[in-house]
Amino acid sequence: MSLYETPTEANPTRQDGPPVITHEFVVAANRLPVRADAEGQWHLSPGGLVSALSAVMADHDAVWIGWDGSMDGETEGAPPSRQGDMALRPIALTNKEFTDYYEGFANGTLWPLYHNGLLSTRFKRSWWSAYVSVNRRFAEEIIAAASPNGTVWIHDYHLQLVPAIVRKQRPDLRIGLFLHTPFPPSQLLMRLPWREEILEGLLAADLIGFQTPTDARNFLALAHRSDRAPETLFEDNTATIELDGRRMKVGSFPISIDVDRINQIANTPETTAAAANFRASLGDPAHLLLGVDRLDYTKGINARLKAFLELLREGTLEPESVAFVQVATPSRDDVRGYENTRAEIEQLVGEINGDYARLGRPVVHYLHQNLPFEELIPLYMAADVMVVTPFEDGMNLVAKEYVASRTDGTGVLVLSEFAGTAVELHDALLCNPFDIAGLKRLLLQAISMHPDEQSRRMDIMRRQVSNNTVYDWAKRFLDQLDTEPDRQSTTDGSARA
Ligand code: G6P
Repeated sequence: MSLYETPTEANPTRQDGPPVITHEFVVAANRLPVRADAEGQWHLSPGGLVSALSAVMADHDAVWIGWDGSMDGETEGAPPSRQGDMALRPIALTNKEFTDYYEGFANGTLWPLYHNGLLSTRFKRSWWSAYVSVNRRFAEEIIAAASPNGTVWIHDYHLQLVPAIVRKQRPDLRIGLFLHTPFPPSQLLMRLPWREEILEGLLAADLIGFQTPTDARNFLALAHRSDRAPETLFEDNTATIELDGRRMKVGSFPISIDVDRINQIANTPETTAAAANFRASLGDPAHLLLGVDRLDYTKGINARLKAFLELLREGTLEPESVAFVQVATPSRDDVRGYENTRAEIEQLVGEINGDYARLGRPVVHYLHQNLPFEELIPLYMAADVMVVTPFEDGMNLVAKEYVASRTDGTGVLVLSEFAGTAVELHDALLCNPFDIAGLKRLLLQAISMHPDEQSRRMDIMRRQVSNNTVYDWAKRFLDQLDTEPDRQSTTDGSARA
């Protein structure tokens, strides 16, 4: 059996279970967009992507297919079958699939490889097998859940084989895939023993979206080098590939945030008061620096803390006049690389506070916790300098959230050149996080920036962010998917509109 065929007997519920209700719009992502709270109640997960897609899905008869977070069926309770306007279809993982597909191939192989090989990558054949079988399962659900001529939007590196498996059985479907991570240079990706399979999986989509033009160009170069596609011109942020008598598109669609929602939260008296209280609770430092990240080795949290520590050591920064708040959301605890990163960050936090804190007055405030979105906005509003220093990042929405939260037009963003966001936010102070000396200079420049200069830069960045919200992003992707000229035959024999 070929990689892209799905054995129906592999999923007996498809044959024996109740008839499956089909939907005109199908979203597939590794995770469902809902989370259970401590009381076992399910809520929509926080984040711009989920709100944007829920808004898009509200206009359609839509279903979201994703992993419900359980392993071997051990959940506090099954997720609901609907959330608001969308239907939910959970995918269950076994313990072994969690280890080999999620922790293994997705986050032990693809994540480091796609982030420019920041961590040496492991290529384990058992991880690949699990990736294939979980991708098949997602594809089977899509095949069963999509109505004739429906639209399927697949998300991220976890599901790159799905377009080809789905197309094989449902050529009537319009298939889009958006990659949220970077796509590395071909020389690096060619190391992947299964690069041909991944390429074939992706090229079966009608539209592949990347975060930046560089990611899209890297993909086109790989497709060409691997003889999977002719040399293709990438112009006006899209390219069309003619392939096996079919046309598909590759484009750059920088993802964004829900600007209106941030405005709504930021413009309440409660949030303004929370921001002031928060600052006061830190002893009203003259300079407040902030970092908010998932705890990940790609995020460069260690680089910014090193630069900060050196500035204190040299006496360039006075510990009495400065505070650094670092929120590091727990993530992928058992995946290789994460434990060491956490240890290094916590060692630096300990060193800074050990040497420079006074009793009751730390210099670095470190939270290894998940903060609700509503609590992050007052932090953004209180911080004079937002420090975003990833070594490699698909986009980095925290940088955009900071800009959107600065409703008074002040504040300085220090932003890594290696974040996709840097392509849009040129008026940030752009840094190279591998260059600690340079990062120190930029931190000092940020701290001492004149308010007029802050407003000048922030104004431009705020306009930039407002002109491309997550809703614009979703619309641009779906419009492009819909305009793709080639139409395939339908399962019910009717022509596509
Ligand atoms: C990145 C990926 C997302 C993923 C998120 C959280 O942003 O691009 O697909 O959902 O990290 O990671 P997790 O492994 O917890 O789902």
